[in-house]
Amino acid sequence: MEKVLGISPLDKTRVEKANQNSCINISIEKTTITNSSIVFSLQQRKIGVPFCLPRAFFPLHVVVCHFQFIRSSNAGVSSNMPLQKEIIEFSDWWALQQVSKSSAVPILDLRSFEDHEKRCLRSPNSREHSQIELVVVSIPISVVEKRAFELPARHVEFSILVSESDLNRADSFLSGSNRKRPNPWKVAHVLLDTEAFWRTAEDLGMMDIKKDQEAHRHDTKRQRTELGESILNPGKSTNTSRILKFPMTRLWQPDPMIETILFPFLAKADDINQKDTSGATPRHVWDLAAGAGRDVAFLAEELLAAEKPHHVFAIDHRYNEKETKIVNDFWDRRGIRNHTTSIKLDLSRWETLEHAMKTGLDNNQVAAMFCVRFWKPELVKAIAQSSSIYSGVLFGISHFCKPSVGAPWNFEHPKEKTVLERNQLRDMFQEGWDILHNEIALDSDHGRTMIHFVARRN
Ligand SMILES: C[S@@+](CC[C@H](N)C(=O)[O-])C[C@H]1O[C@@H](n2cnc3c(N)ncnc32)[C@H](O)[C@@H]1O
Repeated sequence: MEKVLGISPLDKTRVEKANQNSCINISIEKTTITNSSIVFSLQQRKIGVPFCLPRAFFPLHVVVCHFQFIRSSNAGVSSNMPLQKEIIEFSDWWALQQVSKSSAVPILDLRSFEDHEKRCLRSPNSREHSQIELVVVSIPISVVEKRAFELPARHVEFSILVSESDLNRADSFLSGSNRKRPNPWKVAHVLLDTEAFWRTAEDLGMMDIKKDQEAHRHDTKRQRTELGESILNPGKSTNTSRILKFPMTRLWQPDPMIETILFPFLAKADDINQKDTSGATPRHVWDLAAGAGRDVAFLAEELLAAEKPHHVFAIDHRYNEKETKIVNDFWDRRGIRNHTTSIKLDLSRWETLEHAMKTGLDNNQVAAMFCVRFWKPELVKAIAQSSSIYSGVLFGISHFCKPSVGAPWNFEHPKEKTVLERNQLRDMFQEGWDILHNEIALDSDHGRTMIHFVARRN
């Protein structure tokens, strides 16, 4: 079993062997990557230097070799520390990204905020050398548990960058070894924060250095505030041209209905609606049962970035003092605090919601309301029949749903009684609404069927 060090990113014609600078001159016809191994179909040209696989592996013509990919010298490490086995040298990791099919590489930087500010990983400068975009998000180990809702979904592979002294802590949280039901995240690779790591990153043009940390921190926050202001007050001059990246990178994903259906409708519809609302008052979007507030953040950020600012209300009965602080801090970090509001409310009855949001309804400010993974048939039925919802308002829902009329529900979670029947929404919104979207989709983690539904009040 040999450790394959990497594949030349440019011509993919060399396989370098561990612990020696030797290489064999072969071309790789085909590369197939699985979680733990790489299968190369090799075309031998010449064996020029010593290579310790038996020569029988390299007969005269085309050969197919199966190298077990060993990511570290820690292969024998105890199974209580799964992350130890995923430690990988930076150059090996980068070589793997070069041959992988994904163009965006998610990385969770678990170092302290100060270390991240001092120097951080970034995509290589030269687009010629790589089309790969690194999506690096800093969540220090000290707060990662509290900010777990900002991590990728459990089925999404990502890499972590961590100092060696924090590895055990990262392991027990991310692999779940300290929990009764581990439910681990899918950490594919562990990059250790060492000087050697940063030297390689610098050599590859993948290191960002921030010299004046305090000034940088101040600058980033001011830039985000300025962006919001300049969009709301187009005449006012601000320095937004210096803003490098907004919306900020994220590891979590919004709900697909929100991202691919409701957001484009809002981004398009706003032009007409904004003229009606005379002035710069942003229109409202209500997230009914918003939970951790990720869809709220997504919409507020993306609509702002698209120069269609909306004010997004997160409504949920869980927003006590502690939960309110968590969501507000989240939106603050993402630069959309002034574009979001959380409201603690029991959503069992439409009348309660209607009363709490009366001003927005009376002033025709509401552009849309939606529920994601929250299904209260009485509430939705009342929304469909409400006379206080006026023409143009969008209603969206993304929830578990049987794929066809009479189909069984074969999943344990959620329970069948909380799952929609295929045409339940269509029937509810048949009168007084135009149905814009009514399709079955699969959830990305367990393959359960969901309905993506959007209707507009006519
Ligand atoms: C499965 S979570 C979905 C959260 C969020 N929409 C998402 O997709 O991440 C359901 C949410 O509904 C909220 N919820 C449940 N019953 C509620 C009620 N009667 N009134 C208000 N919120 C409720 C819970 O607090 C929880 O945040």
